[in-house]
Amino acid sequence: MTGIFAINGSPRRNKNTAKMLDSFLDGAGESGKYATERIDLFDYNIRGCTSCFACKRNDPDTYGVCALRDDVYDILQRLRGADGLVFGSPVYFGNITGQLLCFVERLLYPLISYEKDFKILTKKRMPTAFIYTMNMTEEQCNMYHYPAIWAPLEENIGVVFSRPERVCAYNTYQFDNYSKYKSAAFNESEKARHRDLEFPKELQDAYEAGKRMADEAATGIDQTPKTAYDFIAAPRNRP
Ligand SMILES: Cc1cc2nc3c(=O)[nH]c(=O)nc-3n(C[C@H](O)[C@H](O)[C@H](O)COP(=O)(O)O)c2cc1C
Repeated sequence: MTGIFAINGSPRRNKNTAKMLDSFLDGAGESGKYATERIDLFDYNIRGCTSCFACKRNDPDTYGVCALRDDVYDILQRLRGADGLVFGSPVYFGNITGQLLCFVERLLYPLISYEKDFKILTKKRMPTAFIYTMNMTEEQCNMYHYPAIWAPLEENIGVVFSRPERVCAYNTYQFDNYSKYKSAAFNESEKARHRDLEFPKELQDAYEAGKRMADEAATGIDQTPKTAYDFIAAPRNRP
């Protein structure tokens, strides 16, 4: 499976996260070099890792492969040959959605071996990105240390595929019509202002990041095999 793929961890197929991912894919597809596709995880029944360890067993038929034969088995295998991967999630309680976490467990864990130095089994490293959308403003996001919550997963993606570029949409407009909801905690007019003036810029950020991913994929990224020690040694804060 070649091309650049967006993994949508939002249950909503046409809201903030999906729009950011679509803009990213528009950028990624601009040069015409790469086909792009969005995969909406909520279309599938997904279980997280069940700790069966089939992927660690000394058996060439199962080694390094998730054995769970559910809806996403084929997707997981095919994504290994992708040219680039962007993950997108609404922030739930500071973190990514459970659905996306289940998917990422299944994607990453079989590739992180228990061989010497926890050798990474990835055949092909590829550029990655992570898009987060949230109610919090950028200032609140930093005040509540969200980037620190996201860092360990990003670093694991880093050793398996490459360190993801992070793109955020803050202060998102959550409802189509705030007057239908008890939502006095939010200032609707400020939310609408952000949606009309700032969200377009965030979509543009996503578009530019998509273009960068396609450029990186075309140039070819460092294919030096990694071990989990590269994760442990990785600095926690991206520039
Ligand atoms: C269950 C749940 C938990 C949430 N937790 C947070 C949170 O901890 N921090 C935050 O900034 N936004 C939180 N939000 C708001 C969403 O992250 C935000 O509205 C997001 O942009 C929605 O993305 P979507 O439009 O793609 O669904 C939460 C929303 C839900 C439904």
